[in-house]
Amino acid sequence: MAGGRLNAPGMEELPLPSRTRVVFGENTVDGLGDLVRDLAAGAGRVLLVTDPGLVAIGHVARAEAALRAAGLDVHRHDAVRQNPDTTDVDACRDAITATNPDVLVGFGGGSTIDAAKGANFVFAGGGRMEDYWGKNKAKGTLLPLVAVPTTAGTGTELQSFALIQQASTHQKMACGDPQALPRLAVLDPTLTVTLPRDITACTALDTLGHAIETAVTRARTDTSAPLSGEAFRLVHAHLPEVLADPGDLASRGALLRAAALGGCAIEHSMLGAAHAMANPLTAHRRIPHGHAVALALPHVIRFNAEDPAVATIYAGLARDVDLASASTIDRDAAHSLADRVGSLCDLAGLTRVLTAFDVEEADLDALATEAARQWTAQFNPRDVDAGTFRSLFRAALTPR
Ligand SMILES: [Fe+2]
Repeated sequence: MAGGRLNAPGMEELPLPSRTRVVFGENTVDGLGDLVRDLAAGAGRVLLVTDPGLVAIGHVARAEAALRAAGLDVHRHDAVRQNPDTTDVDACRDAITATNPDVLVGFGGGSTIDAAKGANFVFAGGGRMEDYWGKNKAKGTLLPLVAVPTTAGTGTELQSFALIQQASTHQKMACGDPQALPRLAVLDPTLTVTLPRDITACTALDTLGHAIETAVTRARTDTSAPLSGEAFRLVHAHLPEVLADPGDLASRGALLRAAALGGCAIEHSMLGAAHAMANPLTAHRRIPHGHAVALALPHVIRFNAEDPAVATIYAGLARDVDLASASTIDRDAAHSLADRVGSLCDLAGLTRVLTAFDVEEADLDALATEAARQWTAQFNPRDVDAGTFRSLFRAALTPR
């Protein structure tokens, strides 16, 4: 490995079942230039895709300094917004066209990395983001993408899909291709230590949702199962620690690992009904994604636990963290898992009732219809239709 900083104490490669090289450690971002050089030996020009908040806080200057120290010509596009839509992708595509980089660096939360991923499709293949909605849709050769997450949540740094909203409809489009997978992910907990409490909690609960949903989908595999289990154990152990002490770098690092493991689990499994419910809640009620997932998840767990095989998997997760004993029957252990997701929401100070977001009985049909149309619904271990989703949203209307 080139560059002295890459041998810094605590820096390690995470051996995950992924084509993405994953480098983890405190201050790893200071070796970003050397890592990019390792990735693309002839690279001269880099476009850093980020957002204005990360510029203001100084993280972007740190990344740019590391890239310049390795002799790279660095350009910046810093206009990506939360929950990026097709206009964010078009703006990023224009920045790529204007700067003609050899490597793209997505530096930010899941929104930013996804916008860079989406723009990579459109830059390489032309047309609109909608043309890449679905699987294996890339045209041409995509630029090498480096992902540097500054939140610990989506795990998009280990995924070949970008989630982009259609600007006109707010429909979330999952656009994926093996080429879109980041070639390198740099996980540095010093970049997440300054996150505010609400973002820390929402992103960690998103990871929790990835762990629990990937564990049980119809598409789960022997490869995804241990990733789901480890991601769950890490969030369960370390989210309370980070909430109690936001400056705890070791626990921040554990959440970053969990997010990457969860992202990798999604690549080898899929997501389910809680993510299908979260999308319309985010689109129409502006509930942050991770909060929406966590709000739906306990109800989905109780519904899915009616299938004995699924209850056994949930029970395994619950027993791993001592939420249930070996003698607890699976269904009860699964319900303990659902209760624990709720208590983690409470710990984070996040409401668990939809009425807090002005959702009323009269809104449930529209939400349920939209949830049933979400791609992830088909991977839920039990069949779910609009009627099922109506019942699940109904359960989330009032406290349990
Ligand atoms: Fe998610």
